[in-house]
Amino acid sequence: MMASQGKPASDQASANRPPVIEAINLTKRYEDGLLALDRVSFQIYPGQVFCLLGANGAGKTTTINLFLDFIEPTDGEACINGINCHREPLRAKKHVAYVSENVMLYGNFTARQNLDYFAKLGGKDHLSRDDYDRILAEVGLPEKAFEQRVKEFSKGMRQKLGIAIAITKDAPAIFLDEPTSGLDPKAAAEFLELLDRLRQQGKAILMSTHDIFRSKQVAARVGIMKAGKMVMQRSREELEQEDLEKLYLDYMEAAG
Ligand SMILES: Nc1ncnc2c1ncn2[C@@H]1O[C@H](COP(=O)(O)OP(=O)(O)OP(=O)(O)O)[C@@H](O)[C@H]1O
Ligand SMILES: [Mg+2]
Repeated sequence: MMASQGKPASDQASANRPPVIEAINLTKRYEDGLLALDRVSFQIYPGQVFCLLGANGAGKTTTINLFLDFIEPTDGEACINGINCHREPLRAKKHVAYVSENVMLYGNFTARQNLDYFAKLGGKDHLSRDDYDRILAEVGLPEKAFEQRVKEFSKGMRQKLGIAIAITKDAPAIFLDEPTSGLDPKAAAEFLELLDRLRQQGKAILMSTHDIFRSKQVAARVGIMKAGKMVMQRSREELEQEDLEKLYLDYMEAAG
């Protein structure tokens, strides 16, 4: 793990560096004709958390899925470190860690075995049992869970293990689709501390969430999506004097 680099990257601090995560006019029309994403653009720089807010069906998961090449764009580009995620998916995926709302894990494996399996799958074969245990502890799993079969895990425990797998990959870009949904308040608070540590290590993080309050706490930038469009993007500095919840509701109520 890299050492802490201190304060959040402000937009100014990032201005001279290329973005790690970039959407350029990203557009997705599903097979049934629905325009789920309409020319969405944003940049996320090293050390930044970008929170994506928006009603159910706004296009948050669609956005994330395009970066992972689970679906193909109709138009525009999703890039990681300048690599087009659709044209060069294998190259792009090396730079990406992903935690979905429902983390895919092997139920008959223990937490440590899952971590070992996915670490090796990601080409990290030098990690010791102590390394795994340190990471499992870091994400807040209790020690007795390390050797417990994952099929016995609660949703929050699965989520934590998913984040441990993402940390193990040590990728510069991290995508989190509603990572705190289903976490209890203490676990959610701990999760955000963890996110802050990853940010301090220089990761670029895209997180979709419905949690306005926490977004304001953790994000360098916040984007609000509505019916496939990015209707607002603000920096932490710009949001300082704003009531983000009111802003969000105003956008939801606005016509169009
Ligand atoms: N495979 C698909 N085929 C057709 N339409 C889809 C598909 N996946 C999603 N959609 C539609 O695309 C739109 C955007 O969905 P998406 O899952 O990206 O929303 P979201 O912002 O993640 O919502 P939520 O907050 O509920 O997770 C919705 O209208 C949804 O019904
Ligand atoms: Mg979603």
